[in-house]
Amino acid sequence: MPRRIGIAAGFLAVTAFAAGPAPQEIGDEVAGRLFANLMTTLQEKIATEGPEAAIAYCRLEALPLTAQVAEEFPSVKNVRRTALRIRNPVNGPDAADRSVLEEWLNAWNPAAPPKPVMKELTAEDGTKEVRYYRPVPVMSACLTCHGSGDEISPNVRAAIGRDYPQDEAVDFHEGDLRGAIVVTFQAD
Ligand code: HEC
Repeated sequence: MPRRIGIAAGFLAVTAFAAGPAPQEIGDEVAGRLFANLMTTLQEKIATEGPEAAIAYCRLEALPLTAQVAEEFPSVKNVRRTALRIRNPVNGPDAADRSVLEEWLNAWNPAAPPKPVMKELTAEDGTKEVRYYRPVPVMSACLTCHGSGDEISPNVRAAIGRDYPQDEAVDFHEGDLRGAIVVTFQAD
């Protein structure tokens, strides 16, 4: 049985490249779904368990969708988030991330956020990687944990401070650029 699964997965991967949707379309689909899922999960957790308990749910790994995406789109190597001002150092931007985010920030207009962009990168060892970047704006629902002043309650502030002592992801306003969802594809 394990062998049959292996063959099926290999076949799927080939079709996804040969005849399946282009990386840009897959990126739109994956980033769109993750974003919608994040919003729903956060709002649901805040409503039922309160903002302190919800803190653990602004993580992609906390979303049931992540595993499903990997299975459904075999060409996707990983999905992550990054930002110029980060809460979890693990999400810190690399040089390519930073240049996309800085370009967006310099021309940022909340009324007309930029369209997603595709980047093809070559690492020092020569391997190629294709990345899809989608901007993530700050919405009012995010201010409970990423806003300024009283928008973040003392309890939430304390809980975030305990888990993320180096937090830089506060003092955002609605409409600001918060960061990016990045979908990385396997090299050909
Ligand atoms: C209940 C608190 C809470 C709310 C509400 C919340 N976040 Fe977060 N956010 C966090 C925490 C905690 C992290 C760190 C997650 C981790 O460890 O990866 C984080 C991380 C992020 C990151 C990854 C970059 C980084 O700073 O580490 C992005 C992007 C992000 N949030 C965007 C948003 C957006 C957009 C919203 C509104 C739709 C939102 N968040 C609402 C708590 C929250």
